[in-house]
Amino acid sequence: MKAEQNELLVRTGPGTPMGELFRRYWMPVLLSWELPGPDCPPVRVKCLGERLVAFRDSNGRLGLIDEFCAHRGVSLWFGRNEECGLRCPYHGWKYDVTGQCVEVPSEPAESGFCHKIKLKSYPLAERGGVIWVYMGPADHQPPLPEWEFATVPPERSYMSKRVQECNWLQAMEGGIDSSHVSFLHSGALNTDPLFKGSKGNQYNLGDKKPVFEVVESEGGLYIGARRNAEDGNYYWRIPPWVMPCFTMVPPRGDHPMHGHFWVPMDDETNMAWSFDYHPVRALSTLERQAMEAGAGVHVRVDKGFRPLQNKVNDYLIDRAAQKSGKSFSGVEGIGMQDASLQESMGPIQDRTKENLVSTDNGIIMARHRLMKAAKDLAAKGTPPAGRDPSHQKVRSVAVVLPSGTPFKEGAGEALKAREGVAQTSV
Ligand code: FES
Ligand SMILES: [Fe+2]
Repeated sequence: MKAEQNELLVRTGPGTPMGELFRRYWMPVLLSWELPGPDCPPVRVKCLGERLVAFRDSNGRLGLIDEFCAHRGVSLWFGRNEECGLRCPYHGWKYDVTGQCVEVPSEPAESGFCHKIKLKSYPLAERGGVIWVYMGPADHQPPLPEWEFATVPPERSYMSKRVQECNWLQAMEGGIDSSHVSFLHSGALNTDPLFKGSKGNQYNLGDKKPVFEVVESEGGLYIGARRNAEDGNYYWRIPPWVMPCFTMVPPRGDHPMHGHFWVPMDDETNMAWSFDYHPVRALSTLERQAMEAGAGVHVRVDKGFRPLQNKVNDYLIDRAAQKSGKSFSGVEGIGMQDASLQESMGPIQDRTKENLVSTDNGIIMARHRLMKAAKDLAAKGTPPAGRDPSHQKVRSVAVVLPSGTPFKEGAGEALKAREGVAQTSV
């Protein structure tokens, strides 16, 4: 890649082409339980390079406003959430959920001074245990998100998030690169409680030279990777990618399906959102416990959503496990196996130095689609794909098909989210 192409893709601050693209979507920004009830403590939010503070007012209304007080710049995270507003603890200025200043106690009320003060604010919406934000122009706000995990009954889904210390794109690219699974995650496939025991694992481990076929979808791509199965059949793993940063992992057996959003916090940090859901049944107690304990795509984190395995402690790498082959990299846990290597590329990967191979086809096509969408939005105002609910009703698939059958045809309706229908999985 040329340096300027890399710059175009990785920068998401206000006014950048990719930043404007991200600002046309509803993005996950908080777990609902982070704002548990009226007048609960406010929460800091960093998204697309902007520093904000979220709160739930006395009437239960959600607000996301500029973190810093309009008076002299104190962080409103220290604020008092009371009587339908967030009050700065320095001199008592108070703001409502729209960012409107409603009180400046040191000025005479009749002066009307406070009406002239308004902080930036963005709309929030709650759905599927997640609080979503829209940070774009009001007249381009898309319909609320319809991802399947967010629309199934709550007992069927689980969501977690963790801070990842690198640019969003190198994290997202890990989500659509399924060739690494046969290597990096090889130790975990047969032991992780949310992955083990499926027939697909044996195909995954038995053929380390997957052949990729990538097909455009309305909202992004389907990235098919085929491996050899019995009798000349192929085992296909087909994750969807939907613009700009939604990916799903192909399922294994009857385990819940999982996937991610990779939301830029700033250009050198992203929030990796990880979800699990089963389309037709409640998650079992054991599954939920495993997720909470950091199994599968989830990770154990501290109160600030920083992984307990991190850069500072070398991700607790176990060289003996690496040597014995018990773990391919020596880092424990699928989520941290990915995060450790993606962070090791540096805060922003220098893509002018990479050497891509055929298994990187999905990544190449996703980059092109993103660059084109960002340029078309900037030049012509063309709304990007992936905002329409129909673009979001996708599923990942794992299926054995006869050789010669194109995966899109063979998987057919299984690539779409269908209410009351289980996933297609091997
Ligand atoms: S800095 Fe907030 S009220 Fe003075
Ligand atoms: Fe991975």
